Amino acid sequence: MNKIGLVGGGAREHIMAETLRKSGLDIVAFAHNLNPGIKKLAIKYNQIDESKVSDIAEEMSREGIDMAVVGPEKPLVLGITDLLEKKGIRVFGPDKKGAMIEGSKYFTRELLNRNHIEGNIKYQFIKDRDNASRVIESWEGDFAIKPVGLTGGKGVKVLGEQLGSRREAVDYAFELLEQYKEGFIIEERVYGEEFTLQAIVSKNNFIPLPLVQDHKKLLDGDNGPNTGGMGSYSMEDGNLPFIPEYDKIKAVKIMKDSIDAMRREGVNYKGILYGGFMETADGPLLLEYNCRFGDPEIINILTSLKTDFYSIVKGTIENNIDTVAFNPVATVCRYVVPRGYGTRPVENAEITVEDSLSSMDNPRIYYASVNMDNGGIYTTSSRSIAVVGYGSSIAVAEEKCGYGVGKIHGNLHSRTDIGKKESLERKIANIAALRKGYTHHTHP
Ligand code: GLY
Repeated sequence: MNKIGLVGGGAREHIMAETLRKSGLDIVAFAHNLNPGIKKLAIKYNQIDESKVSDIAEEMSREGIDMAVVGPEKPLVLGITDLLEKKGIRVFGPDKKGAMIEGSKYFTRELLNRNHIEGNIKYQFIKDRDNASRVIESWEGDFAIKPVGLTGGKGVKVLGEQLGSRREAVDYAFELLEQYKEGFIIEERVYGEEFTLQAIVSKNNFIPLPLVQDHKKLLDGDNGPNTGGMGSYSMEDGNLPFIPEYDKIKAVKIMKDSIDAMRREGVNYKGILYGGFMETADGPLLLEYNCRFGDPEIINILTSLKTDFYSIVKGTIENNIDTVAFNPVATVCRYVVPRGYGTRPVENAEITVEDSLSSMDNPRIYYASVNMDNGGIYTTSSRSIAVVGYGSSIAVAEEKCGYGVGKIHGNLHSRTDIGKKESLERKIANIAALRKGYTHHTHP
């Protein structure tokens, strides 16, 4: 039996563990938290901070592991792939240079800029206070301020949302300059609907996966503070109802051009490339790249995946992917989070999951940032459990998912509108209104 090292303890890694286990692999887990789902599937569970990349590499080598899958961005950005490969362990995930695509927002914007890749937006890199005040005061229109490096999904603030005025923006910019030595970037604010396009990438392969839409805001109707993602859906045809085919093609091209540009510059990217896009009246614009699967987006992808996931992992590493096929199902995933998540989450609160839910095929549940103690499951400050439903239509998938969420109890919160008809109609109407108001836009 092959042993595989799995780094990360969220729902993303739980679903990976489940699919790898189905392919007969013995999982050795490495995660900071004790994820009950992964614990059940793994032959060995090492509770360790995922940023201790040297220790993880040592332990994998001692365990005789010859292949590893890395879920979260932090160990990738810290160079876990390079360390493991030096020890002869093959890795599904980019090396340190490749992971720069998420590790530095400045690197990504510059990559697109110098290679004349479409989808870039107006931006400026700022490293000192004088420039910060000058650029913020004179910037035309609204903007977003983003720390350059990793901040665990936090740190992005938008004028008109989290920033009430330019004065506030300058104060925030100063705060960032104190906190992060890499500085920050200021970007034009773009309007539309966000969507996720992920691709499997190796030297000779670039395989786009079905489109998914995550919901970053805490509350129904896309209101409230930003979160790590409250839930996501995908459609049975792999597209989204507000993305025309030509814009999907554009987004694929932006990502492929970026990978090709990196290759020309000496970086052979391998693993998953996550493109976070805004569908605008101008078509898709790139908001960010991530160097790993999205969470929750991976849950939509692996729930509808027909091909054995391990064959994809192996094929990516060996640079010879045969096929990637999907079942024609829609999927809806909702996160259950501690009450107060996004501001003041209720930590260490017990969660109970009805027994019947744990053994169901549809819906399925995946544990995220929870801890197990004496057989009980407890919240942390982050997302708790992902519930996914699937079916021949989004209505069926949504209903299945909602049924599952109803079987989880505690001091918890979950959005109720993800994948619902009214929510999809609102998104379609939003894009239609933007396009109407835009007079210079032409399509091929
Ligand atoms: N769903 C957002 C992310 O994975 O970054």
